[in-house]
Amino acid sequence: MSEKIIILDFGSQYTQLIARRVRELNVYCEIHPFNNLPDFDDAVKGIIFSGSPFSVRQEGAPQIDYTELQQRFPILGVCYGAQYLAQKSGGEVLPSEIREYGRANLQFVDTSNELLSGVPVQSQVWMSHGDTIKEVPANFNIIASTDKVRVAAYHVAGTRTYGIQFHPEVTHSTDGQVLLKNFVVGICGCAQDWTSTAFAETTIAELKEQLGDDHVIMALSGGVDSTVAAVLLHEAIGKNLHCIFVDHGLLRKNEYEQVLDSYKNMGLNIKGINAKDLFYGRLAGVSEPEQKRKIIGASFIDVFDQAAKDIQNELPDGLEAKWLGQGTIYPDIIESISVKGPSATIKSHHNVGGLPDFMKLKVVEPLKTLFKDEVRRVGKTLEVDPNILGRHPFPGPGLAIRVLGDITEEKVRILQEADDIYIRNLKETGWYDKVWQAGTIFLPVQSVGVMGDERTYEHVVALRAVGSLDGMTADWIHLPYDLLAKISNEIINHVKGINRVVYDISSKPPATIEWE
Ligand code: XMP
Repeated sequence: MSEKIIILDFGSQYTQLIARRVRELNVYCEIHPFNNLPDFDDAVKGIIFSGSPFSVRQEGAPQIDYTELQQRFPILGVCYGAQYLAQKSGGEVLPSEIREYGRANLQFVDTSNELLSGVPVQSQVWMSHGDTIKEVPANFNIIASTDKVRVAAYHVAGTRTYGIQFHPEVTHSTDGQVLLKNFVVGICGCAQDWTSTAFAETTIAELKEQLGDDHVIMALSGGVDSTVAAVLLHEAIGKNLHCIFVDHGLLRKNEYEQVLDSYKNMGLNIKGINAKDLFYGRLAGVSEPEQKRKIIGASFIDVFDQAAKDIQNELPDGLEAKWLGQGTIYPDIIESISVKGPSATIKSHHNVGGLPDFMKLKVVEPLKTLFKDEVRRVGKTLEVDPNILGRHPFPGPGLAIRVLGDITEEKVRILQEADDIYIRNLKETGWYDKVWQAGTIFLPVQSVGVMGDERTYEHVVALRAVGSLDGMTADWIHLPYDLLAKISNEIINHVKGINRVVYDISSKPPATIEWE
């Protein structure tokens, strides 16, 4: 089993970022909530206590009994984690009298301490806390200070326990990665051998072992996650992986054909299913967004179920597909065990391809320990088509939630044409790869225009482009005016039915990325 670092999550918004940074050092790590501890077996090399929205002084603040862990493993407390360790050992944590938020510089650094080796005096760190450690017990050595925060970092003498009141995982902490490396490599002794090649090799070997001669059925969406998961499975079991790609008629222009071709070129055993009429039929006259999502989710399951039955029937006698492959990734799993409970559902994000209960297949999810950017790197190692790896996220219900109001084939066609011009221009100018997600929205309004001598009364489309890390927050992108002008002209001149183009300049929150 490969070695790992455990991050105990006390609910900080930065916990996932710590995990990403540790993994950037080619060291595998897992996040576990403080109130549901994992097994601490021999693979564990060290533990990081995360920050928290709680104050250690608050009633109901997260608590754990770490006495035994402290004897067995190196521990690094970050922010709340550091304050908690200090308070539990008899130190004093009080509300800060001065603002301890934002950039600060380390005025004192004990570089003889292994945690801070290579971190220079004046190094910039990112502070974000309402409490501060006022007093530490006698055996806590202060190893770094800023002019305002005396206990910026400490080492508990005679142990491998450390605490820092700043956030090394945030890029504003300029030597944060040096510090994390000192901890996971120097102090915990991790070998830094967790690379995408190593991940792919081990995963393929594990899948072979797990699946043997079994058959697996899997729905692909054309997206990065399901594709990379399928390629891993394909490498492990070859033709015993049966893939299904459904055309619900709500994909981008020509996307169905292009993606299906890529899949075939990759050697996947794939079956394309044109289910356009079924989806359009069931969606006719429906304009409420959640209702659209439900219809699409349910229809998808119907189509998938039928296709899976067909595959079962085609298998030689006595054989049955026992497994369902899924492209689940790590954030899908950690969110559902978050300390504060799942965040309120604003939109029901169906995981299209979700398992209908009655199918009773076992689930195999080769990517469930990876973040999105890691999935892309594994995909690159596996030589997945760069067009698929670089694709923007695209919602499962597709253009159904980008045609506001009720859906008709004609509206979808107009939207596909406009969107195709938009995306092509982004690609030609290099903006596509700088944008996290872009798309076109068909608005349910008509507006007056003039073409030649004629008055027109036609449709409006909105263009959206956002920058984001994970879709939870997003900023609108400042596309150059010249580019917007060119796109607008092309759309109005070439797409019959549109006489006005607008650009969405809202960020999330308070707006969402999709309009529905
Ligand atoms: P919002 O609109 O909530 O979108 O800011 C955040 C991300 O989620 C995608 N999205 C969906 N994905 N099914 C999906 O599979 C959905 O119903 C859905 N709604 C939004 C959206 O494209 C963005 O990437």
